[in-house]
Amino acid sequence: LPEYKAVVVGTSGVGKSALTIQMTHQCFVEDHDPTIQDSYWKEVALDNGSGYVLNVLDTAGQDIHKALRNQCLAAGDGVLGVFALDDPSSLDQLQQMRATWNLRHTQPLVLVGNKCDLMTAAGDAHDTATVLAQAWGVPFVETSAKTGQGVEEAFSLLIREIQRV
Ligand code: GTP
Ligand code: MG
Repeated sequence: LPEYKAVVVGTSGVGKSALTIQMTHQCFVEDHDPTIQDSYWKEVALDNGSGYVLNVLDTAGQDIHKALRNQCLAAGDGVLGVFALDDPSSLDQLQQMRATWNLRHTQPLVLVGNKCDLMTAAGDAHDTATVLAQAWGVPFVETSAKTGQGVEEAFSLLIREIQRV
């Protein structure tokens, strides 16, 4: 089976580990245990009888681990750039990170607004993210690692982009 490496990046606390574990183990982690670096695998079967191995590199949001994060980014086939919909500053921080990593043109990116279960009507991070995704020319998906909403979609969208390049 082909193996695809998805790197999950974003500032600390946005839910990168919770998303990764919801995707690979179908459960929600309540605690925030700051990540240094973790790797997860999942075999994904497709309706047409084929499939692939998904390798998720869960990175550190804390800037003291920036060098490790950049190594993961360099190793990835594609990137999930995550912010939290209830925290607009996390989108600013993702933008700052994005400015410091060199996305190869063969390395797709999907913008992920997590914690949609906590989103209020005010939701300004949502509108800003929609504009940003258009400017970057990347898909934007809303997810909740808590309810599972959008999680498979976010990963499978990234894999489809990876398969296309
Ligand atoms: P670092 O490893 O420090 O970079 O953080 P992280 O991005 O991996 O965050 P983590 O997944 O540990 O989640 C941080 C906190 O947010 C935890 O308490 C999670 O339970 C919570 N959380 C994550 N995703 C969601 C979500 O979709 N909805 C809600 N309500 N809480 C979430
Ligand atoms: Mg983490």
